Formats: sequence, C-alpha cells, structure tokens
Amino acid sequence: ANLKQYNTFGLPSNAQALVRITSESDVRRVVDDPALGLAPKFILGGGSNLVLTQDVRACVLKVEVMGRRVLETRDDAWIIEVGAGESWHETVQWTLDNGLPGLENMALIPGTVGAAPVQNIGAYGIELKDRFESLDAVDLITGRSVTLHSQHCAFGYRDSIFKRHLAGKGVITRVRLRLPRPWQPVLGYLELERKIAETGITAPDARQIFDWVCGIRSVKLPDPAVIGNAGSFFKNPVVTPEQCRDIINRDPEIVHYPMPDGTFKLAAGWMIDACGWKGKSIGRAGVYEKQALVLVNRGGASGAEVVTLAKAIQESVYGRFGIRLEPEPVVV
Ligand code: EPU
Repeated sequence: ANLKQYNTFGLPSNAQALVRITSESDVRRVVDDPALGLAPKFILGGGSNLVLTQDVRACVLKVEVMGRRVLETRDDAWIIEVGAGESWHETVQWTLDNGLPGLENMALIPGTVGAAPVQNIGAYGIELKDRFESLDAVDLITGRSVTLHSQHCAFGYRDSIFKRHLAGKGVITRVRLRLPRPWQPVLGYLELERKIAETGITAPDARQIFDWVCGIRSVKLPDPAVIGNAGSFFKNPVVTPEQCRDIINRDPEIVHYPMPDGTFKLAAGWMIDACGWKGKSIGRAGVYEKQALVLVNRGGASGAEVVTLAKAIQESVYGRFGIRLEPEPVVV
C-alpha cells in the first residue's frame, strides 16, 4: 500500500499491508489472524504528525473508528465520547454546533481524535490533557480492551505514555473528553488578547474564540491539503532560568515564556527565524515563509530531504544558541 495520501507531508512510502480498523473487533481480528497477528504493526491516524523517510516494514492499522455522542451531562461537566478516527477539527465544530463549548482554542489542529492524546495536542492556552476524561484502547498482543484515565497517560508538553512505554502497543479506539460547566473562556494568549483589543469584544463566546483561532492559524500555518506539512516541526525547548538569562544576554529579543515550575520555554520558531531559515529550502523541502517552525513539502520532497533540512536547522540553532531542538513529529 502506498502511504503518500495518508500522511499530510505527502511523503512517498510503501507499507507491507494496510488494514482499516473501524471497531474494537477489527483490532481483535488482526491480533487473532495467523499471519497478521505476529507481524509488526504501525498505527496510523490522520498522518499529520509523521515524517516517513523509508518504507514501512509493518502492517499499517489505519484507525477509522467513527461516532460522536454526549455520554453524560453532569452538573460540573459534559462528557463526550468520540471515535478515534473522527477528524479533530470537525469534532471541535460538532461540539460548538451542539452547545458544548470548551475545545474552541484547539480549532483547526490537523489530525484525528485518536492521535490527540498521543502527542497531547495543544494551542492558545489549552492542551488536550485539560479536557481529557479517559480513553479505550485494544492491546495488540492480547487483544484485550483497556480504559485509561489521565493518571495513566503521563501527559507532558507534546508528550504522553503513548509516545513512550506504550508506543505501538495498542490501538486507541475511543476518547472521552470532559468539557467543564460553566464554560469559562481561556484568553491569556497574546494573540487572543490582541483580537480582543482589535475588535473591542471583551467577552467573546466560544464561537467567537473558535473563529479567532481559525483566523490566526490560517494566516500563518499552511493548509496540509495545499502544502504538505506536519505542523510545528520542532518542540519549543524548555530551559533553566540560568540558560534563559545567558541567551537573553546575547539575544535580548528572544521570545520566551515563564513556566509554572520556574523553567522557561523558548520560541523555537523565533530562533530558526533568527538563524535566517525562513523561506529557505534544501532540495524540495523548505521552511515555511510565514512560520519558521513549520517545514513544508514544496512538491515531490522525500522524507530524506526533510530530515536533511531538519538537521541543518538543528545545527545552526545549536551553533548560535547552544540549544538542541527536538523534532515534534514521529520520524520513521
Ligand atoms: N516567531 C518568529 N518567527 C517565526 C515564527 C515564530 O519570530 O518564524 C515568534 C513569534 O512571533 C512568536 C513566537 O515566535 O512571538 C511563538 O510563535 P507562535 O505564537 O506562532 O507559536 P509557536 O510557539 O511557534 C506553538 C505550538 C503550535 C500552536 C501555537 C499556538 C509547539 C511546538 N507549537 O507554536 O502548535 O498552534 O504555539 O499555541 O508548541 C503544533 O504543535 O503542530 C502546533 C502548530
């Protein structure tokens, strides 16, 4: 199976086999299959956080479990349950259409609902973990279903147990989200504050925030349907106060944010931009003109070209700031 259409970077790669998973029993059928049961597996959602540099020597499980419903209406929250194969953004729209606010800051994030907990997606002041209730997954060795709650998931910044100990061990089939009542807007992010100042709307509703976030994102993030990309290519590095002070002494302009634990997060996009990479290319892989943290496929790029560009960027950022940038997407 050709995976080019199944990864938002549009990178070429062949897989041994591709099996569509529409239910938990589909996973168990694969586990019990004499041939597929023992084969290595690769779990694929929307392919929006993936850099394919070679063929995938595994059976690809394409997760297409669908369905959305309100599971519970509590005094302090709505609990919704969503199939892992549903589009994340369409799910955010569905919640707003049904009067269930709380996900609006995470509008327009590419990918599926099942992938959202894997990398603890986040934007404009809210992370998935802030709205997470639990998820169902099927173990790829035993075929058993498990339900995992927040305390099992080891959520961190763009990180979870599903990128570490449990990577590739099970298929996430359903995710439950908790939308707190009464709804409270999250407006602390600089670009949202700017929108409030521009429009004079000081008490936006969830739909207004959704529209603002969509507007902000579409100005600086390329639409993967038009230009292949996987969102932010590097994580924003977290440094000690001493490291941060050192860098500020040399580069007073550096964009940095204090974290609750006393460390500082540096804007990787700013550093890449400062190294002169914005709009540059190596081969057919490039750095997006409007956001230096996003690498793009300028048409027909290979995964190797993307990795070559990423390494060159890492070297120049290390040379200038002494910081090692870590890729955000999974590199295969
Ligand atoms: N900046 C530059 N030049 C650039 C890019 C950024 O100077 O080319 C500066 C900006 O001016 C801004 C700062 O760097 O002051 C941060 O940029 P931005 O607000 O665009 O956010 P980011 O840190 O680059 C992160 C997430 C995004 C998320 C936004 C909004 C990561 C790795 N990325 O980007 O998430 O949408 O904040 O919350 O944490 C993703 O993970 O794929 C993603 C898109």
